[in-house]
Amino acid sequence: MLLAAPMVNLGGKTLLQVTSHDESSGPRLIPFLLIKMINKSRGKILGVLALFLVMVWYSIYREDSFYFPVQENNKTTCPLGEVEKKAAQLIGNYTRDHPLFLQLKDYFWVKTPSLYELPYGTKGSEDVLLRLLSITHYSLPESIQSLKCRRCAVVGNGHRLRNSSMGDTINTYDVVIRLNNAPVHGYEQDVGSKTTMRLFYPESAHFDPRTENNPDTLLVLVPFKPMDFQWMEAILNDKRRVRKGFWKQPPLIWEANPEQVRILNPYYMEVTAAKLLNLPMKQPRKVKQKPTTGLLAITLALHFCDLVHIAGFGYPDSANKKQTIHYYEQITLKSMAASEHNVSHEAVAIKRMLELGLVKNLTYF
Ligand SMILES: *[C@@H]1O[C@H](CO)[C@@H](O)[C@H](O)[C@H]1NC(C)=O
Ligand SMILES: *[C@@H]1O[C@H](CO)[C@@H](O)[C@H](O)[C@H]1NC(C)=O
Ligand SMILES: *[C@@H]1O[C@H](CO)[C@@H](O)[C@H](O)[C@H]1NC(C)=O
Ligand SMILES: *[C@@H]1O[C@H](CO)[C@@H](O)[C@H](O)[C@H]1NC(C)=O
Ligand SMILES: *[C@@H]1O[C@H](CO)[C@@H](O)[C@H](O)[C@H]1NC(C)=O
Repeated sequence: MLLAAPMVNLGGKTLLQVTSHDESSGPRLIPFLLIKMINKSRGKILGVLALFLVMVWYSIYREDSFYFPVQENNKTTCPLGEVEKKAAQLIGNYTRDHPLFLQLKDYFWVKTPSLYELPYGTKGSEDVLLRLLSITHYSLPESIQSLKCRRCAVVGNGHRLRNSSMGDTINTYDVVIRLNNAPVHGYEQDVGSKTTMRLFYPESAHFDPRTENNPDTLLVLVPFKPMDFQWMEAILNDKRRVRKGFWKQPPLIWEANPEQVRILNPYYMEVTAAKLLNLPMKQPRKVKQKPTTGLLAITLALHFCDLVHIAGFGYPDSANKKQTIHYYEQITLKSMAASEHNVSHEAVAIKRMLELGLVKNLTYF
């Protein structure tokens, strides 16, 4: 920190050296002139005080509005560093060093081959990835990259969003993450209309990606199996579609701009499974359990947001067999029974995050 107290004893020369790192010559001259003034007149104490004030002004001027996020906009102050601190308590070896999306260079000049196969790694899928990643992008848009504070809302598809009137609140977040084919049209009042990122896999893809997203929404493929890469590559390169290997027919025509498409780094699926659900990475064939896209989205947010709020998470009590689980379709918990997800296990993980204050719920959980 530039304003450390011991500087008072250092004298003008050292202070000049400190400021001389900066390019602009104007502010460099000011301390120099001040020192001359001090030597002539009132004595050192007053001068040092003036210098100190100049340094305060200068550091604020250089850091822009960084110290005053409240003035920058009218939202809550940014809790910088808090998500990292709390996430590290919950997630062993927590790090923000892993890229969000897969990029071509990691497969072109393979440096660290993946330990796992999909959904936890890319082992064995390198060839199709080479073709797919050469037509997709991997960067975060500048509008997100440049945010001083990333306030994120992860919107689950839960029935609790019905009549919630949360739409306007959800739209105020910098980053709104949505899941699968959850619609926005006709539900704006309850779920909002902004979609920064949508996480999906082929079977959960909306048939028309343009209707329920914004023109700049990132369409993030969550790869569960090698077929998922093949589906996306066939769509984007307009190659012969593969129909076998899916548990539900994915779209054969899917008109998205390749510039919007990203491939999620399976690292986040690994962290969700291994660290949040304590699932074994190599499971015997019969008892396969995988995280839901919802829990995965929360995990992803914990790795790049400064604030994570969740809405529309949670399932009805398992005794409540007639209660629909989504805000937009009439399906019940029964339909989840055949899936490879354990929603009660995931609920425990989300409760821990809420208790820790790592995430906050916007709707009752
Ligand atoms: C901040 O927003 C609230 C409501 O959103 C409003 O009542 C208040 O006047 C705003 N404050 C400033 C300083 O703009
Ligand atoms: C953290 O990383 C070290 C070294 O890679 C590993 O031995 C250890 O098991 C990891 N801990 C957790 C909780 O993943
Ligand atoms: C939502 O509100 C409408 C109108 O007030 C009501 O008919 C409907 O039952 C409510 N839906 C839910 C899920 O509460
Ligand atoms: C789901 O998780 C719960 C709690 O962790 C566990 O008791 C239960 O056996 C799991 N169900 C299945 C089908 O694995
Ligand atoms: C969020 O969940 C906590 C308990 O986990 C509950 O006390 C609180 O009322 C919930 N907030 C809302 C807005 O539902």
